[in-house]
Amino acid sequence: MASKLRAGVIGCGSISSNHVGGYINCGRYDVVALADLNESAMDEMDARFKIKTKHYTDARQMLEKENLDVVSVCTWHTGHATWTITAAAYKPKAIICEKPMADTLGRAEQMLIACQRNKVKLVIGHQRRFLPAYTLAKDLIAQGAIGKVQQITSYGWQGMPNFSSHQTDMYRYLLSDEECDWVMGNVERKTDMFERGTRIEDCAIGTFRFRGGTQALLLSDVTDIVYQGALIYGSEGMINMTTNNLQLLNKDTGGSWQLHEPDGKFFKVKERGDRFEWEEGGAAQADELADWIEGKVDTHRGRGENGYKALEMIHGVYESARMHEKVILPVRTKVNPLDIMVESGHLVPERPGHYDIRAFLLRGERMTKDDEQVSEG
Ligand SMILES: NC(=O)c1ccc[n+]([C@@H]2O[C@H](COP(=O)([O-])OP(=O)(O)OC[C@H]3O[C@@H](n4cnc5c(N)ncnc54)[C@H](O)[C@@H]3O)[C@@H](O)[C@H]2O)c1
Repeated sequence: MASKLRAGVIGCGSISSNHVGGYINCGRYDVVALADLNESAMDEMDARFKIKTKHYTDARQMLEKENLDVVSVCTWHTGHATWTITAAAYKPKAIICEKPMADTLGRAEQMLIACQRNKVKLVIGHQRRFLPAYTLAKDLIAQGAIGKVQQITSYGWQGMPNFSSHQTDMYRYLLSDEECDWVMGNVERKTDMFERGTRIEDCAIGTFRFRGGTQALLLSDVTDIVYQGALIYGSEGMINMTTNNLQLLNKDTGGSWQLHEPDGKFFKVKERGDRFEWEEGGAAQADELADWIEGKVDTHRGRGENGYKALEMIHGVYESARMHEKVILPVRTKVNPLDIMVESGHLVPERPGHYDIRAFLLRGERMTKDDEQVSEG
């Protein structure tokens, strides 16, 4: 039995419990150290999981002293590249960085380069790839259970980078990582809205064309319907997928919907309910990473290159709105096209006034992220 991997976490807010829980629940890691600007965040983590970790208010000190095998990067989006590149320089075996991979494609590319240069395995936290309903849908599609997939529809909210980077990643996962050829879409942005320090739109629609001919439609902040999952229309059937189950309709189901609620490797849907997707996703993501580190598998389904493509499709929608064109991938603009639109005066907020829909996450006296402190993420 391989010895346990030493894990440390940078940024101990809400999603980091998914990482710590995942490391603990899969049984292959010791969480030895935490880094956060706020002591209280680290204290809460220790109390929640009944662990005793070393605390650092300077993440570089943790990287310097702890000889970590695996580092989690769980700061806000703008900190993902900073901390992944910094952590990579200390040569851990692997890094799990949260989604969206970065705030710009240029920074995401630097993350891939830094990890390659230092021989560090990079995973982006699109943990829904590990949900058994998602994997069953992927397998059914690959087996031809609904014929040729013609259309995938999904619904997002609170800006595309946050919620819908999971959905662009989901499209590719469902299609066995088929490549997206082009993106077309538009955004509305009347107010100066940000999400975790990243500029977002009021609403957006994106269409995505995949190499095999499948089309995906993303409706973000434009309907009352919002969920992680998809309606998948094939030439010979349909799948209605959520994070906990799927319904299949094809000739074998006699024209009625057939419910499938597969359990995970670590948890059962019925027992965990709403917590299932977080607990199973976190544990299975960490477990596959341990397999990758130990050479039991050749790759990880959440590898950095897949995270890059999920972000690229989102930025493809912004680029389509900016350029008024169908954007053929790869996206060649490496800064955030929404930022360029606003900063160049192309898309001026009609109702000015910066606000962040996740300001409630900030602790202490802070009400905004200080953009001068790049490393704060
Ligand atoms: N995979 C998912 O489904 C999922 C779900 C929620 C959030 N996320 C992602 O996780 C990231 C974090 O979101 P959150 O909701 O946990 O935010 P949060 O505000 O709850 O937590 C962020 C933490 O990072 C800390 N931090 C900031 N700068 C730091 C620094 N320089 N060094 C150490 N710590 C620092 C903050 O003090 C805070 O405790 C976001 O990018 C978000 O998109 C992913």
